[in-house]
Amino acid sequence: MSDLINKLKQRRSYREFETESFDIEIIISAIEAAKYAPNGANKQPWTFCVVKDPEIKKQIRKESEAIECDFYKRLSKEWANDLVPLNVDISKPFLEKAPYLIVIFKHTYELDQDGNKSNVYFPDKSIGIATGMLISVLTDLDIQILTYTPSPDHFLTEILKRPKNEKPYMILVCGKGSKDYSLPNITKKSNSEIIKIY
Ligand SMILES: Cc1cc2nc3c(=O)[nH]c(=O)nc-3n(C[C@H](O)[C@H](O)[C@H](O)COP(=O)(O)O)c2cc1C
Repeated sequence: MSDLINKLKQRRSYREFETESFDIEIIISAIEAAKYAPNGANKQPWTFCVVKDPEIKKQIRKESEAIECDFYKRLSKEWANDLVPLNVDISKPFLEKAPYLIVIFKHTYELDQDGNKSNVYFPDKSIGIATGMLISVLTDLDIQILTYTPSPDHFLTEILKRPKNEKPYMILVCGKGSKDYSLPNITKKSNSEIIKIY
């Protein structure tokens, strides 16, 4: 079994991080690999914003926690029940504690410097593949992550001053997972449930 397969099988979402940082070049090199993802008509409909500035992280945390407050008020019973094993709540200290946040933006269309618009194709599928590749590389580099998806998320466009053709896709919280974090006790489906050979 390859090292990568073993590492991917051990990957888990961390919701507590050490404050310890590391060279930003490690994050850049992982993004550089992800940009080789297959994507619709090679339009590469993505922007990866790497946030390390403590003030910007603080702003993102403040807005996220306000949104979580509202989100929990309108959460369905079923969704609330599904979240129980994950032990999550409205407080998101990891957004400030983790050394890097990669805020991924999806291009809904292309916009050149003169404001001319052109199409992108299958941006959701394309960015999902690129994000998956990015998570795999970060995992290979022994960096722990959380895929964090505040909803609604348009505050990220405003804080990071992204152009109007870019919509927030997800925040990848990156760092060294806290040794004290109790990983939720969850299981994965069996191979026979998810693999069908014809
Ligand atoms: C699209 C997507 C959105 C997610 N959003 C959140 C989130 O907002 N907050 C959170 O704590 N975890 C979030 N997660 C993490 C999942 O809860 C986690 O991946 C799942 O419970 C499986 O746990 P594992 O990653 O440790 O295997 C998200 C994962 C995905 C793929």
